[in-house]
Amino acid sequence: MSEESKKEIDEVTGVETVGHEWDGIKELNNPLPRWWLNIMYFLILVSVIYWVLMPAWPGRHDVTHGLRNYSERVEVTKQVEAMQNARAEKAQRLLQAASLEEIENDPELFEFASALGKITFADNCAMCHGSGGQGAIGYPNLNDDVWLWGGKIEDIRYTIAHGIRSGDPKSRNSLMPAYGKAGILQKNQINDLVNYVRSLSGMDVDEEAAARAAPLFKAQCSVCHGVDGTGNRMFGAPNLTDEEWLFGGDEESIRYTITNARNAVMPNWNGRFDDATITSLAVYVHTLGGGE
Ligand code: HEC
Ligand code: HEC
Repeated sequence: MSEESKKEIDEVTGVETVGHEWDGIKELNNPLPRWWLNIMYFLILVSVIYWVLMPAWPGRHDVTHGLRNYSERVEVTKQVEAMQNARAEKAQRLLQAASLEEIENDPELFEFASALGKITFADNCAMCHGSGGQGAIGYPNLNDDVWLWGGKIEDIRYTIAHGIRSGDPKSRNSLMPAYGKAGILQKNQINDLVNYVRSLSGMDVDEEAAARAAPLFKAQCSVCHGVDGTGNRMFGAPNLTDEEWLFGGDEESIRYTITNARNAVMPNWNGRFDDATITSLAVYVHTLGGGE
């Protein structure tokens, strides 16, 4: 008996069967909806067009490149090149600027320098100076208007390029003697000086001890910290009369500073970064808040 002859109308649904039957179960002839088939044919067509135009089939060593010869890698390389060219152009203009002030007054250059400076700062300076430049004990706050070596943008740029006690030939340098360790002063003299230094910023001290130390301070310390203790940027010597302390203003910290000296090191960055990046860092630090 042929299949054709087994076709019949199903009684329950009223749909024609295809003629297949398994143990009394008959298969109804419900074709796929037209719209569904149309979408499928359309997508098959799209994929054929795609194979022709775009890279699609893997070969033994390479892939088919398609008529458009598109390559994501080439596209990305092009974009990266365009970015580098834009950066190089701005970096060039940074270097050609007559002065660092000129950069700060040119909105486009300024934005470029601040952005580059900010990223570079986060990656290289934040571990010592804090993520917002707020500093920590032994690492100066770059947000305030207290500057050891100067807060003009040129001063800042010089500090960043050459460092402090960094070993760079043009490094900023000065060495406070370790008065106790080197045996220059006795313990009681240092104790008197602790009181004298604290009296400079108006803290409660042993007045007699402070008075005893006045001539000592003048003889030993005023060369760098100034006769009145207000500091000297030529030596990076901090102002001892303000309430800002780099290494701590409690008695123990000051005793430690005078006995052992600190002579903290700030690395020089001229070997690590190009001139445009160092300038950008200076612009960024200068605008952190306390620039002069
Ligand atoms: C290893 C820690 C360290 C890193 C990293 C570091 N610095 Fe410093 N920086 C210091 C110390 C310590 C001082 C203070 C030195 C001193 O006592 O004179 C300093 C001082 C400075 C000063 C001078 C502040 C003043 O009051 O005159 C500037 C500006 C500065 N750093 C900027 C930077 C920038 C920008 C970077 C990143 C490119 C950086 N530093 C990375 C430790 C560091
Ligand atoms: C050769 C210059 C020099 C001489 C002399 C000198 N100092 Fe200093 N002193 C510095 C410098 C520079 C610093 C800060 C930088 C560092 O040590 O990292 C400093 C830091 C200090 C600090 C820490 C201040 C703070 O903010 O934490 C104290 C306190 C101090 N000196 C006291 C003295 C006293 C007291 C004497 C004299 C017995 C003296 N210094 C002599 C250069 C000098």
